[in-house]
Amino acid sequence: MSIHTNDIKRITTHILQEMKYNNEKIAMLTGYDFSLAKIIDTAGIDIILVGDSASNVMAGHETTLPITLDQMIYHASSVVRAAQRALVVVDLPFGSYQGNSKEALSSAIRIMKESGAHSVKMEGGSEILESIERILSAGIPVMGHLGLTPQSIYKFGTYVVRAKEEEEAKKLLEDAKLLEDAGCFAIVLEKIPAHLATKVAKEVKIPIIGIGAGNGVDGQVLVLHDMLGITHEFSPRFLRRYNNLYEEIKGSVEAYIKDVKSLDFPNKKEQY
Ligand code: KIV
Repeated sequence: MSIHTNDIKRITTHILQEMKYNNEKIAMLTGYDFSLAKIIDTAGIDIILVGDSASNVMAGHETTLPITLDQMIYHASSVVRAAQRALVVVDLPFGSYQGNSKEALSSAIRIMKESGAHSVKMEGGSEILESIERILSAGIPVMGHLGLTPQSIYKFGTYVVRAKEEEEAKKLLEDAKLLEDAGCFAIVLEKIPAHLATKVAKEVKIPIIGIGAGNGVDGQVLVLHDMLGITHEFSPRFLRRYNNLYEEIKGSVEAYIKDVKSLDFPNKKEQY
């Protein structure tokens, strides 16, 4: 049995590193609000990522670009209030760190101070190294994110699998090593060939968390609303749905509407 169950107060970056050494897989999910974060924390999730995918699943935007730093802080604060065990990682949103490293640091500090989260995540490699280093030098743990980086969607043009060609795969491996050397505590690899993700996980010592990157890595992450089947139009190959809450919620709401309209609800026992 794993030692990392509810008898441990809080998952830390050091525990994640130990888990990699002990070949114990890391389970990470996104979370954006208090109620669902409470459920996934109680279930024993290791990391809750307050992802900028909130822009899609919470706000209904087509991309992750519109979400603001204030909005990320709002979501992160709600999750932090719920999470007693999980490490909470918060995405630095588009535009809050790419421009210059001083602005990056002040964005990261705002997240840490105003939400109480434990770390930040940033998309990119060598291009944003200066910002990563400055944030790390302030004592803020940073998770990297390579491969498909949705904040650069207009540069890529599509959400297809990244790093299939040798040159891009070589740069990805180099970037992973740069992030490790800089002091990042983990890296998310999104939508890249499984053999490349496995190679990265073997060649760097920090935990590699995959999404659409096969099972040769140190852990997995999914968007909560996708794996619960709340979203139902998005069906990439890597997504395993553990429920169909879209249909369940819709069915419950339809039943409620029917009960209200037919005067079945509230009944005698449900009133004062
Ligand atoms: O924002 C997000 O949900 C993410 C995950 C897909 C890793 O970055």
